[in-house]
Amino acid sequence: VDKLATRLPPEGAGLLDAIRSCAQSSGLRAFLVGGTVRDLLLGRDSLDVDIVIQGDAVQLARNVADRTGARLAKTTPFGTATLKDDGVSLDLATARSETYTRPGALPMVTPSTIDADLLRRDFTINAIAIQITPPAPGKLLDPTGGISDLHAALIRVLHDRSFQDDATRILRAARYEARFGFRLEERSLDLLERDLKFLDPISGTRFRQELVRTFAEAEPERPLTRLHELGALAAIHPALSFGPAQAKGLHRLREIRAPVLATWPMVAWSAPDTRIPDLARRLALTRAQAAAVKAVPAARDLEARLAAAARPSSITHLLDTLPLPTVYALAAMSEDARVASYLTTWRTARPILRGDDLIELGVQRGPDVANVLARLRAAKLDGEVISRADEEHLVDEFLARERIGLA
Ligand code: CTP
Repeated sequence: VDKLATRLPPEGAGLLDAIRSCAQSSGLRAFLVGGTVRDLLLGRDSLDVDIVIQGDAVQLARNVADRTGARLAKTTPFGTATLKDDGVSLDLATARSETYTRPGALPMVTPSTIDADLLRRDFTINAIAIQITPPAPGKLLDPTGGISDLHAALIRVLHDRSFQDDATRILRAARYEARFGFRLEERSLDLLERDLKFLDPISGTRFRQELVRTFAEAEPERPLTRLHELGALAAIHPALSFGPAQAKGLHRLREIRAPVLATWPMVAWSAPDTRIPDLARRLALTRAQAAAVKAVPAARDLEARLAAAARPSSITHLLDTLPLPTVYALAAMSEDARVASYLTTWRTARPILRGDDLIELGVQRGPDVANVLARLRAAKLDGEVISRADEEHLVDEFLARERIGLA
C-alpha cells in the first residue's frame, strides 16, 4: 500500500488515506483489488485505483468527499462510486457477488464479502486483494492462486463457465496476454475455444467498447491477431478478420500518428464489400466509426485508380472524397507514398487568395468563386502557382479565357 501511495500524486495518496481512515472509523474493511493490485505486484504503473469496501461504498465515498473536499464524480445503483481530486480518480465498490441469469446478459449483483467479490472475477491475476484497513493492513488475499500465475505468466479463468458467464472475457484475455507477454493457461485456452459461440449473444455496444479498449493497447495488432487466430473475430462477425497485412498496417498507423478512429477501417480492411454495412451494425459503431468503415470499399477501389493519377491535384481530388480516418488506413496499407503526402500537406493546401480577393479581381459572386478557388488550389498543389502574384495572374487568365464573372 505504501508502495502504491508513493506512485500516486500527493492528492491521490491523501485520498487513499482518507478512504482508509473513514472506513476504519465506520468499522468497514477496505481492500485494493483487481488491476491495481496486479499492476502493483508486476511493478507496472496502473491507470486507476480500485478499492472494494465490505459495506456500503457509496455512503463511504460521500463521507470521504465531505471530509476531504474531493468530488463524488459518479455513483451507480450497483454500489459503486468514483472520487476525483485534482486529476486523480479512485473507484470504490461495495463487495459483491454476481449471478449470471443468461449468457451475454449483465449479471445480477448482490452485496457480499471480499472473498465472494474476488471469486466472481475474470482471471486469477485479477482476483488478488490487499487489505488496507485493520485488523490486518497490508495482508494479501489470493484465494485463486493469482500470485503464482503472475510468476508463471499465465492467464487462468477461475472456473469452467467463466467465458459462458461473460464472453467479453475472451477479448480481455487476449489483451492481457499481449500487454504482459503472458499466455492463456492450457485448460483456460480449451475452455475459451469451447465457448466461442457464447460471443454470439453479446451486444454490439459491448463489443465496440471492448474493441476500443483493445485499440488503446500499446500494440493492438497483437491481441487482434491472437483473437483472429483463436477464431474469436469470426465468431463476433463472419466478415471480421485480421491478417498479417492489417497487423503491419496497424503498426504503420502509429508511425504516421493516425487518429485512433483510423483503427476501425483498418480492422474492416479485409471484409468483403457486401458484408461491411452488416459488420458496422453488428459492432454498433458510432456514426463516425461507421462512416470510416463503410468507406473501405471505396478506399480499396481508389488504390488502383491512384496509380493512374499523375498529379498531386488529381490524387487530392480522389482522396478528398473519403473520410479522413479511412485515408489514414489507406496510407498505412498502400505502397503509394503520395497518400502520406496528401495527409501531411496536400489535404490542407489552400490558395493564398480568398473569396473576397477573387471578387475584387472581377470574379462574380456565387458558384464561380468556389470553382476558381478549387482551380487555384489544384494549380498550387501541382506547383503551377507559388506567390500571390502567380495566383492573381492565373485568375486574370481564367477571366480572360472564360469570361468568368464578366457579366
Ligand atoms: N472484471 C471481471 N470480468 C469482466 C470485467 C472486469 O471479472 N468482464 C474484474 C476484474 O477483476 C478486473 C476488474 O473487474 O480486474 C476491473 O475491471 P477493468 O477496469 O476492466 O480491468 P483492470 O483490471 O483495471 O484492467 P485494465 O488494466 O485493462 O483496465
